[in-house]
Amino acid sequence: MKDISLHILDIVENSTQAGATLIEINLFEDTAHDLLTLSIRDNGKGMAKSLLKKARDPFTTTRTTRRVGMGISLLEQAAREAHGNLKITSKPGAGTEITAAFRLSHIDRKPIGDLGSTMATLIMGNPRVDFILRTNTGGEPAEINTREIKAELEEVSITNPLILNHIREFFNQ
Ligand SMILES: Nc1ncnc2c1ncn2[C@@H]1O[C@H](COP(=O)(O)OP(=O)(O)OP(=O)(O)O)[C@@H](O)[C@H]1O
Ligand SMILES: [Mg+2]
Repeated sequence: MKDISLHILDIVENSTQAGATLIEINLFEDTAHDLLTLSIRDNGKGMAKSLLKKARDPFTTTRTTRRVGMGISLLEQAAREAHGNLKITSKPGAGTEITAAFRLSHIDRKPIGDLGSTMATLIMGNPRVDFILRTNTGGEPAEINTREIKAELEEVSITNPLILNHIREFFNQ
């Protein structure tokens, strides 16, 4: 995966598979500590201790279609390549949070990529899931909360192409 946005797409898929109805994504730069931190928190079914212990192992998956599960291990590898690390906290019945830290200025730190398109794709593919995305990556801090957007839209669907385009552009300016 060439950028962090693609890892976000992939990690969020775990959350939707786990039945999450609310997914919070935070992406923050901390120049003082030379850190870029991504966290993805969901209210899905969570992981039992035994699964949590081995979740970052590429041979761990609860998929039935194949024997490898790459999402978490690839994100951990990306974090380590940029002198960072990955943490997972999870509680059965409560949810999961995955935090990846990267050394911001590290030459092997992947670029953030197209966050706007990633969010538009996630919202389009999961219209019943609510997303909160908060970013503070150099420019102005930005936040979207799909629950609030849906309330304001009333009759109009959040998957309306004009709305998705607006969301895409909001993050890419
Ligand atoms: N947010 C989550 N909530 C509950 N379980 C999770 C969550 N994220 C990961 N898991 C568990 O950890 C396993 C490993 O996740 P990982 O993303 O590495 O692989 P995968 O999703 O199984 O396969 P792939 O990502 O390659 O499609 C999953 O199969 C799932 O059982
Ligand atoms: Mg996965």
